[in-house]
Order: sequence, then structure tokens, then C-alpha cells
Amino acid sequence: MKGKDLLSIHELTSEEVKQILNLAKELKAKQKAGIEHHLLKGKTLGMIFQKSSTRTRVSFEVGMYQLGGSALFLSGNDLQIGRGEPIKDTARVMSRYLDGIMIRTFNHDDVEEFAKYADIPVINGLTDLLHPCQVLTDLLTIQEYKGQNLKGLKLAYVGDGNNMVHSLMYGCAKVGMHFAVATPKGYEPNPEVTAKAIEDAKVTGGSILVTNDRIEAVKDADIVYTDVWASMGQEAEHDARVKIFQDYQINTELMQHAKADAMVMHCLPAHRGEEISEEILEKHADEIFDEAENRLHVQKAIMALTMCD
Ligand code: CP
Ligand code: NVA
Repeated sequence: MKGKDLLSIHELTSEEVKQILNLAKELKAKQKAGIEHHLLKGKTLGMIFQKSSTRTRVSFEVGMYQLGGSALFLSGNDLQIGRGEPIKDTARVMSRYLDGIMIRTFNHDDVEEFAKYADIPVINGLTDLLHPCQVLTDLLTIQEYKGQNLKGLKLAYVGDGNNMVHSLMYGCAKVGMHFAVATPKGYEPNPEVTAKAIEDAKVTGGSILVTNDRIEAVKDADIVYTDVWASMGQEAEHDARVKIFQDYQINTELMQHAKADAMVMHCLPAHRGEEISEEILEKHADEIFDEAENRLHVQKAIMALTMCD
């Protein structure tokens, strides 16, 4: 994967997904055992943030340090990009200083454009459309709880048809999982992403179901997943969305329809009492916080594979 960008799981092969997960597992074991793994000694990652972050920022920065390199936090507001310097110029300048770049922004096309003009690997740290690093992390976490073979497992997502849903669709499709999403009417996932995920799922034996019926989605699921009802950039819609989404909460009653040993996952940050009840979040806290931890291990694998010599 040397020199490759990581913008969308759809653009990875199933083999590359496996490679990332296997290396993440190896690096996690090394880090826990205190074995040095300086695979990116002397390299620098730039991190452009045009939205807030806790997990992404800290895990990329610590990850680079553990790989023997360093990371630079670059706030979108402080860069000249915030004053109108074109993306294509910023990308070419950054390529002269850095060995890789991670970007969190609004418009997915901006990350595509950055990658087009940069000649260093570009990693998508979340856009309005996709959140691939989170979903690769989720696949590793599912392997830890449900076993190495992901094929045939059912993941049900209940809530907003947002960036998490799009990347989960792509991720599940690539590894042969069955993915079901239930949203209120009008909040379904992007139809183009859905169509591409359906094509990917045909190749691996997975499947994609889009419904407004939360019980149909959750039925016999091995994993139940949710995310915020109002994503970053949708703060003004929050109160209206709380009313529209109120029947789409992951709670004890809805979990009755999943398998008895179903995992619950959340990319975090969580809004207890909205998309997930306090009771369910705390009951599944081990899974949810392992998921958060695994951002570190998976992103180290992504950086080591794409930014290596
Ligand atoms: N899940 C996730 O990406 O968290 P942050 O927004 O805190 O980075
Ligand atoms: N859908 C959420 C994910 C946060 C990690 C957002 O975009 O705000």
C-alpha cells in the first residue's frame, strides 16, 4: 500500500483491508508488550482539522510518536486555507515538508482534490460523506469479540444515514458481512454510496438492507451500532432531529430483537438519552471503549503501510 491514499474503504481491495487489520493486531500486541516498533522513524504526519476531534487527533498524534515519527496539528482556522489559499496549492506545499497528511473536513470533494495534487499519502480523518479510519477500527474490534472470520456476521445500524453509515456499508460489504440500516423517512443513506456498496457485497457474499423499520434492521443482529442524530455541521438541526429520531434509540427494548450475545458499538462521542440509552451504553462500555482504543492501533497500521519507504 506504499504511497496510497486512504480516502474510502470502497477504494481498498478486500486483501488490503485484511492487511491493515492484521498489521493493527500485530502492532497492538507489540505496544502492549512494550516492544519498540519504529516503522516510521523520522517521518512527519500533518493533521488538518476543520472540525473538532478528541479520538482522531489524539490517536493519530500518539500513533505517530509510537512509530518513531512526529505529528503536527494544523487547525483549519490558522492555515492560509482558511483565508482562501487554494487546496491544490496547499497540497503541493505540504508535500514538500511532510511524509503524509490526515484531513478532517466537511466536503469530501476537498479531500479528493487534496489527494489529487499531493504526492504524499492522504488519509481521510472524516468528511461529511465518509469516516473510513473509524470503520476499519470497528472491523478489528468485531474480530476481537466475534472471531477472526467476519464473513456472514450481521451488523445493524439504527439512526441517521450519515458518514458512519456510508463507511460501515463499504466496510461490511468488503468483508462479506450483512449490513442493515434503519433510519427515519428522509434520512436514508446516500443512494450512490448504497449502490456501490451493494455491488461490493455481491462480490464477497455480503448484503445491504436499507429500511425505515428499526426492528427489521436489528432482527438477529450480531452487532448493533449507532451514532449521533446531528453530526458536526448540523448543530442547528439538533432539536428538530431529536423529535424526528426519537423512535430510533438503541435501548433495552430494541436490543431484545438482536441476538442474545449481540455487541453494541458507537464511534463516540455519544449522547446518552438520544441515540443510545445510558443503560445500554454502560452495559456495553467494554466494547465501546475497546473500539475507541483500537483507533490508535488501526491508524498506526494505515500509516505504516502507506507512509513506509
Ligand atoms: N469517533 C471519532 O472520530 O471521534 P472524534 O470526533 O473525537 O475524533
Ligand atoms: N457522524 C458524526 C461522527 C463523529 C465521529 C459526525 O460527523 O459528527
